Amino acid sequence: MQVLNATTLRLNRMDLTFNIFQSRYPAYESTHKLDELRATEYARLDREQHVYLDYTGGGLYAESQIREHLALLSNEVFGNPHSKNLTSMAMTERVEQARSYVLKYFNASPDEYIVVFTPNSTGALKLVAESYPFQQGDQYLLTFDNHNSVNGIREFARSKGAAVTYIPAQPPELRIHPNEIDSAFNLARPNANNLFAYPAQSNFSGVQHPLEWIAQAQAKGWDVLLDAASFVPTNRLDLSQWHPDFVAISFYKIFGYPTGMGCLIVRKEAFKKLRRPWYAGGTITFSSVVGDGHYLTPGPAGFEDGTVNYLNIPAVESGLKHIESIGIDVIHTRVMCLTGWLIDQLLRLQHSNGKPVIALYGPPNIHMRGGTVQVNFFDPAGELIDCNHIEALANELRISLRAGCHCNPGAREMALGFTQNDLLPCFSSKDSLTFEQFLGVIEGKTTGALRASIGLVTTFADVYKYVQFAESFVDRYVTG
Ligand SMILES: Cc1ncc(COP(=O)(O)O)c(C=O)c1O
Repeated sequence: MQVLNATTLRLNRMDLTFNIFQSRYPAYESTHKLDELRATEYARLDREQHVYLDYTGGGLYAESQIREHLALLSNEVFGNPHSKNLTSMAMTERVEQARSYVLKYFNASPDEYIVVFTPNSTGALKLVAESYPFQQGDQYLLTFDNHNSVNGIREFARSKGAAVTYIPAQPPELRIHPNEIDSAFNLARPNANNLFAYPAQSNFSGVQHPLEWIAQAQAKGWDVLLDAASFVPTNRLDLSQWHPDFVAISFYKIFGYPTGMGCLIVRKEAFKKLRRPWYAGGTITFSSVVGDGHYLTPGPAGFEDGTVNYLNIPAVESGLKHIESIGIDVIHTRVMCLTGWLIDQLLRLQHSNGKPVIALYGPPNIHMRGGTVQVNFFDPAGELIDCNHIEALANELRISLRAGCHCNPGAREMALGFTQNDLLPCFSSKDSLTFEQFLGVIEGKTTGALRASIGLVTTFADVYKYVQFAESFVDRYVTG
């Protein structure tokens, strides 16, 4: 007779639940190769008993990516590119090869697009911010739902006299109503520079805003800046179908390694508009102190300040090949199955008095959304439990979640219902406030939420453990 211990019982319960999950999400089975990869290339997760649910924060690399990069560095001699010596030319070739590979990966025609390497998405966004020819009478239009690195472009726009307009998102799903979009697009001014920026996928709510906006906005006279940082790790971005003027990407979010590499993909037509506010080593063909002038290098190099991260650039190509060997559609399918199930499980949690355990900020289903699931937990009296405290409790179980506003203050403010009246005092006398006074006005306004993000090698077991953790808050008062 088999003696059932607690672990066996727990496993049996998980197996049973897995069977139910699979019948609800049959497509999951077609993603089986990711389980094999998890056991081989990402074995460190289970060896260290990590439940990693922070893929929107950073992707994870396969061990083979590291081996391949190490072999390249161990076997070749590379020098600083852009010179005519052998080691430099070898490196230049690798850099240009990686540049072409990025275009190929996103199905972008080299006749239409170029790739500028940057340190990250923020670096890509800043290039647009400082080079877009904003002037008096121009416009910067953006969604409330945006990363701070997109919000920050407003400082460049305003300093040059451009008007800044935000399009609100509507809770609870945090989508943008089509009427709002239509009337915002109508704000484009003829014969002016009009820049519209939005995320293909919200890093806060997981909402995927329509890519159809790109052509609609362009038809009304906008240049479109697509922040694709949290979209591309689990979705196909086909630049032969969609034609944004600027696309910002961080590679570590797609395949984990290397960090310190991103890119700006720019339509050649839009590229002509950009004006660099300065020049630096690496960006010019000729400069003179005596003659007080310079010539910017044509093409991407004119936007790559100083020495590029040349030893890491080849690892971008192998990272993209790694994703291709799995298939971005396979990754997408898996992430959507797990996300759908996670949302269903979290939404069904109730205290005995019938009150919900969690509030979800974002779509309650998998229509037009990604694998970012943002929630707050509430006790049986309906009191919000500080997300930082929940994050710390999750740590005890080696579950990595992320608490805070996730650099997306607009989405947080819409989700949590903060009004202008709540927040204006925080900035009204910004320069004269003492730190103590600042703490007084900011009190209660820094509340955030708890984000779980599902990615490349998330398994059912990971999500199951998070659901079990969430279940432990049923009927629980938490003192923190
Ligand atoms: C949607 C979005 N945009 C921009 C960024 C900024 O990326 P990075 O910090 O790599 O520059 C992030 C990072 O989380 C993001 O999620």
